[in-house]
Amino acid sequence: MKKLWLTAAVSSTLLMSPFFAHSASETDKVVVAHRGASGYLPEHTLAAKAMAYAMKPDYIEQDVVMTKDNKLVVLHDHYLDRVTNVAQKFPERARNDGRYYAIDFTLAEIKQLSVTEGFNVDKEGKQVQGFPERYPMWKSDFKVPTFEEEIEMIQGLNKSLGYDIGIYPEIKAPWFHRHEGKDISKAVLKVLKEYGYTDKGSNVYLQTFDFNELKRIHEELMPAMDMDLKLIQLMAYTDWNETMVYDKKGNSQPYSYDWMFEKEGMKQVAKYADGIGPWKPMVVSDKSSKGNIQLTGLVKAAHAEGMKVHPYTFRADQGRIPTYANNFDDMLDVFYNTANVDGVFTDFPDKAVNYLASEK
Ligand code: G3P
Ligand code: CA
Repeated sequence: MKKLWLTAAVSSTLLMSPFFAHSASETDKVVVAHRGASGYLPEHTLAAKAMAYAMKPDYIEQDVVMTKDNKLVVLHDHYLDRVTNVAQKFPERARNDGRYYAIDFTLAEIKQLSVTEGFNVDKEGKQVQGFPERYPMWKSDFKVPTFEEEIEMIQGLNKSLGYDIGIYPEIKAPWFHRHEGKDISKAVLKVLKEYGYTDKGSNVYLQTFDFNELKRIHEELMPAMDMDLKLIQLMAYTDWNETMVYDKKGNSQPYSYDWMFEKEGMKQVAKYADGIGPWKPMVVSDKSSKGNIQLTGLVKAAHAEGMKVHPYTFRADQGRIPTYANNFDDMLDVFYNTANVDGVFTDFPDKAVNYLASEK
């Protein structure tokens, strides 16, 4: 990986000025329920969203992809095979790469599928649960929700319970959808507008990894629709192949994120975004150890441009606590207080909500 400016800006907490010291009670730190209460129930099911709601996070996340008949569904991957029984129900519908693409199925077909905890298929063809200690695979019956169904449930609970919990949709792989002839961003904005999310005061953050699309949303799509939502630029490393760009011949290559980590990167992002969603190690270096937390400088750089910082993903599963933290709460303390992030994406929203409550 390229050596980047932010790595050079690593600073030890021992050297931190008291000017930057932070107390959680001084500012509004938020909790984003990542794919719902996905630590407890299968991700992105309405059950996981209702459970998350009861834990009272500030936002509930939706990853959004498009079907063959242009409906929006809530799924993390633009594939169906990691969390559903599509391979059993429609065995002949995989593409040449062996994957089952949501965009090749109508909503009616997708609604016939059962959703389970995420799994991989091993060499013997056996399904292996991604997080073995989580909710057991194939128990009960869960479905893929549409984007509208999920918004209606959250808005319905806001009415029946009297809270004001926001939504945090991510437009998944807009580069892929547009290559397939579908303008997913326009469709997502249309639904958001229909449900009353129109301006920066609306209780929504709209996120994407695709900078070119974020720019298009900010400069073209939202003005044309008389909308002005808060936008979050998600950050990846180039070699993750998270975002691809196509040349005129239709050949793809990974979008280079390297510039985002350079000195002027945050200034450039802030022209279009209200915040960033970095991977945790982009904020707290993995070189950190207990008592020697090394910050990359990303939060300071983003805050200097007036942007929020909401890193992903905080998990309490075995092996998911970095070596520099004693436990989940300690990890939250490092991020909320030492690194001074504004919010976290977590599969365990109850734990983060309780942590912030205990800080007050
Ligand atoms: O959107 C924030 C976080 O969810 C990004 O990671 O892959 O879980 O969508 P992912
Ligand atoms: Ca996401």
